[in-house]
Amino acid sequence: MLAALILSNLLLLHAAATTSPLRSVAWYAGYHSADFPLSQVSWSKYTQLTYAFATTTPDVNSLFLADSDEQLLPQFVQMAHANNVTASLAIGGWGGSQYFSTAVGSSANRTAFVKTVTELVTQYDLDGLDFDWEYPNFQGIGCNTINSNDTENFLSFLQELRQDSTGSKLVLSAATSVLPWNGTNGLPSTDVSGFSSVLSWIEIMNYDIWDVLSPHAGPNSPLNDTCAPSGDQTGSAVSSVNAWVAAGMPANQILLGVAAYGHSYVVPESSVLQSNSSTNITNAFPPFNAGAEHLGDSWDSPAGFDVCGNFSGITGVYTYWGLVDGGYIDMDGSPQNGFGYLFDTCSQTPYVYDKSNQTLVSYDNVQSFALKGDFIKNNGLGGFSMWEAGGDLNDTLLDSIRSAIGGSSTTSSNDPSTPSSTSSSSSSRNAAMMMTSPGMISITTILAICVDC
Ligand SMILES: *[C@@H]1O[C@H](CO)[C@@H](O)[C@H](O)[C@H]1NC(C)=O
Ligand SMILES: *[C@@H]1O[C@H](CO)[C@@H](O)[C@H](O)[C@H]1NC(C)=O
Ligand SMILES: *[C@@H]1O[C@H](CO)[C@@H](O)[C@H](O)[C@H]1NC(C)=O
Ligand SMILES: *[C@@H]1O[C@H](CO)[C@@H](O)[C@H](O)[C@H]1NC(C)=O
Ligand SMILES: *[C@@H]1O[C@H](CO)[C@@H](O)[C@H](O)[C@H]1NC(C)=O
Ligand SMILES: *[C@@H]1O[C@H](CO)[C@@H](O)[C@H](O)[C@H]1NC(C)=O
Ligand SMILES: *[C@@H]1O[C@H](CO)[C@@H](O)[C@H](O)[C@H]1NC(C)=O
Ligand SMILES: *[C@@H]1O[C@H](CO)[C@@H](O)[C@H](O)[C@H]1NC(C)=O
Ligand SMILES: *[C@@H]1O[C@H](CO)[C@@H](O)[C@H](O)[C@H]1NC(C)=O
Ligand SMILES: *[C@@H]1O[C@H](CO)[C@@H](O)[C@H](O)[C@H]1NC(C)=O
Repeated sequence: MLAALILSNLLLLHAAATTSPLRSVAWYAGYHSADFPLSQVSWSKYTQLTYAFATTTPDVNSLFLADSDEQLLPQFVQMAHANNVTASLAIGGWGGSQYFSTAVGSSANRTAFVKTVTELVTQYDLDGLDFDWEYPNFQGIGCNTINSNDTENFLSFLQELRQDSTGSKLVLSAATSVLPWNGTNGLPSTDVSGFSSVLSWIEIMNYDIWDVLSPHAGPNSPLNDTCAPSGDQTGSAVSSVNAWVAAGMPANQILLGVAAYGHSYVVPESSVLQSNSSTNITNAFPPFNAGAEHLGDSWDSPAGFDVCGNFSGITGVYTYWGLVDGGYIDMDGSPQNGFGYLFDTCSQTPYVYDKSNQTLVSYDNVQSFALKGDFIKNNGLGGFSMWEAGGDLNDTLLDSIRSAIGGSSTTSSNDPSTPSSTSSSSSSRNAAMMMTSPGMISITTILAICVDC
């Protein structure tokens, strides 16, 4: 009876504390700061900015930050705090995930890695950490350490991090693949509910679904793919959210990863246009000429050797501003006069085609970001996280998705990732934003105590 009373009061308190706005998040790439300085970030439109990247090292006791990041990160945190925005740090990334597997590979290493990450949090006064492990028990760039137990070791590590006095107060997130991380059997996990108790949220990286390594061109960031030809259903917001929710991740702990960039392909006119005189693109999955690939905008990396020492070709990526600068589209993302165009009704994303150099680009614009915002709202997701803040132009995409979601709307009343009433410098700082440390944990902890008593 007493326990029930305590429980109902707790639930009431919990419900009262759960008015939580849209989580409007973006990654800030430190390596683009020369072109996109911290002063250009529209801080007031975000609840969190996530600095990219610290990378894993062979030594579980250390993470790597470039000298330039060591200088910039304190300014990033200071500006975020001055704007009441959560300052998180992303660890890993495509090129920085080599040693996650060993860092969480044994009980002793997990304890050491908790110490490593919490020391970094304290040193830089961070409010959060974003684990961008690409990928647990699935090879990413080519030379990552990997173990069949990666996913369960990752969970054990996060649980230990939550037990830590510093770790317990953090906003903890993870950037994920479109399918739940592979379990010991090498197949997508069917139960990720354990992660929902320790992570504030995940961000599904619903982009690069098609790129120049794919067998043919396709949408970079499809909203839907269940309507695509059967061989081309390789991931989308619809299917990835379904997959994560089916595996036990609550929808309101899912942020949709959205892309302020597109992928380009060199495609002959006859493969994409209705006729020579037409500007109608007819094929969302045309073959392309991989050998003729050219650089995207000035942020696109030239071909070179990756961290594994493997040759990596041109990716042909254009940021949103790069597409405007390159003369493909107008500010709002509509095609320049005479350019081919398609708003693909299945992926609900646009394509633009430049006849003069046979370049097809799959990208996102005002319309597709608004539809993604509608999807987030209609499915009770926790918000979005955009790669990357500096890819947008004059907040065109950001404003579109925010207004579709409804600005600082509230999310559902059983949001488990809202703060418990503990106060620390960071939780009071975030009180106005109702940012997270998982309140669910404190409730289950107290319940466990009451069941025992
Ligand atoms: C940050 O929050 C504090 C306390 O709620 C408030 O006084 C201040 O104006 C806020 N600053 C910004 C930039 O929103
Ligand atoms: C623990 O970390 C060290 C590096 O600090 C690594 O050499 C070792 O292989 C790791 N252990 C496991 C079981 O992954
Ligand atoms: C990349 O390099 C690693 C060794 O550093 C190798 O094992 C791997 O197979 C290479 N190739 C690819 C495509 O990743
Ligand atoms: C995975 O963990 C189990 C114990 O849970 C252990 O027996 C097994 O050796 C581990 N596998 C690898 C590849 O480390
Ligand atoms: C799981 O592994 C399979 C290959 O066994 C791979 O195709 C798939 O992409 C992996 N999934 C994730 C989420 O890493
Ligand atoms: C996705 O496509 C299916 C048809 O395959 C359709 O029934 C569904 O409504 C679409 N979902 C969205 C969010 O567009
Ligand atoms: C399309 O027409 C232009 C002239 O208007 C010509 O230069 C070009 O070769 C034609 N392309 C094809 C595929 O017929
Ligand atoms: C483009 O397609 C639309 C229908 O989607 C059609 O009405 C229009 O005539 C086409 N334009 C050309 C130039 O083929
Ligand atoms: C493609 O053509 C446009 C002009 O239509 C030009 O601005 C752009 O630089 C060209 N891109 C490449 C890679 O040749
Ligand atoms: C950027 O947006 C602001 C406000 O929406 C507008 O006043 C301004 O003209 C825009 N700049 C450009 C280059 O379009």
